[in-house]
Amino acid sequence: MPTLTPPPAPAKPDSAVTECAEVARLAPQFDHSKATSAPDVTRASPSVKGLPLRIGRRLTLTVTIHLAQLSPPAAGDPSPAMRAIAAIATQVCQETIGVDLTDPAETLVAKYGNQDSARKFFVAALASTPATESGELGLPLIASSGTQAPLHVLGYLYAQLPLKDNQHLMEVTIEVSAAHRRRGIGTSLLGVARQIAAAHGRRTLIGWSAHRPVLAGGEPLRPATGVGEIPRDATATFLLRRGFNLEQAEQRSILRLPVPPSVLSGLQAGVPADSDYRVVQWEGATPPALRTHLARLREAMSTDIPSGALEVEKEQWDEERISKWDAMATIGTRRFTTAVEHQPTGDLVAYTEIGQIISNPAHAYQEDTLVVGAHRGHRLGLVCKLANLEFLAREAPAVAAIHTWNAGENDPMLSINRALGFQPGGWEGVWESKL
Ligand SMILES: CC(C)(COP(=O)(O)OP(=O)(O)OC[C@H]1O[C@@H](n2cnc3c(N)ncnc32)[C@H](O)[C@@H]1OP(=O)(O)O)[C@@H](O)C(=O)NCCC(=O)NCCS
Repeated sequence: MPTLTPPPAPAKPDSAVTECAEVARLAPQFDHSKATSAPDVTRASPSVKGLPLRIGRRLTLTVTIHLAQLSPPAAGDPSPAMRAIAAIATQVCQETIGVDLTDPAETLVAKYGNQDSARKFFVAALASTPATESGELGLPLIASSGTQAPLHVLGYLYAQLPLKDNQHLMEVTIEVSAAHRRRGIGTSLLGVARQIAAAHGRRTLIGWSAHRPVLAGGEPLRPATGVGEIPRDATATFLLRRGFNLEQAEQRSILRLPVPPSVLSGLQAGVPADSDYRVVQWEGATPPALRTHLARLREAMSTDIPSGALEVEKEQWDEERISKWDAMATIGTRRFTTAVEHQPTGDLVAYTEIGQIISNPAHAYQEDTLVVGAHRGHRLGLVCKLANLEFLAREAPAVAAIHTWNAGENDPMLSINRALGFQPGGWEGVWESKL
């Protein structure tokens, strides 16, 4: 386990450290930018490192950071650790997007409990010693639900390993409380992520990062696709220096509701009447008779959206996976789906989904939208979206803003969104790192 020593000179003020302006930066003994894999933080001890905290001008205290795995929950109320993780996610979302679009702790626990299509791990970085029982990762286990003494969580890792397809990759989220950044916590959590990936035979890490727009005059970072940009902020620097490539940039856009009736009627007027197609709508879980159809659409969605040079393969969906996924995706979210049936064959050939966040009901996500290749050119994407907006307005009138993310190179989708009135709000980076 590498040890880290405090920097020789007084620490530079760091705008990312808001809790205590005099917290000293860590000077790592190894060069992260050259490291191909992160340190083995679990082998010798679950404690990561001594963090030197400079209090005033003379006194330095060393705080040991501990890593602990959250046990997959049976059920129940979130533990204090899971609540603390949800609070960090909220803080990061507020910081980057300006509004809380995250899952509350209750939703995190319920989703963590559903490990059907992905194996999931939560790992917390703690400022205090956790329990001693060891979990699968060789780290102490702490509860993700139920009662537990309060723990000071400084950051967390959430790793998801697909089980039905894409078994070469692992999706990673690492978030550190703003007051505790640049002390090596993110790097330590990334080290654990790489260990989990290696232990499960995964060779590719994929992660997403939210960003404010690039400031005027700022030097942006361009993705491998060449389309879009993100600012060279602390998160981008962290990921770049730790071996991630920026493969894609997704534009984040917002649609304020209600859409003016004149815009809606103008767009409706441009849709040709075509009796071959019929709109079908539902709220919540997919009706049993449509599950096989939706499975085909989700498979097409996994390959038809632009994904740059990301190493992703076609997803495998069937009726059972749709049903289990619906059970999870409707936790904490009201989901509204509009699909289009091709009447001569009875096949579903297009769909779009909006999810209203139950804990923050003025906000919703625009999720998948797809028209299968053979049925493109009939304005079915617009038909679906207009019908789903009407459905949402009728059933969930509290929604005042819809948020969406589109690959910068996805011109067909972006042009429909612009026509509906979506306004650009920022960018999201899509990152990949090989083990
Ligand atoms: C990315 C993030 C997890 C890093 O956590 P962290 O605990 O600060 O990470 P570390 O202390 O291990 O490493 C910090 C590194 O970030 C970069 N960095 C941070 N602040 C920086 C700044 N002001 N200027 C330049 N580089 C900076 C540097 O590479 C720094 O390493 P260094 O101190 O060795 O130079 C944290 O910034 C965060 O929570 N960001 C928001 C969430 C997010 O977008 N996560 C990524 C998606 S998976």
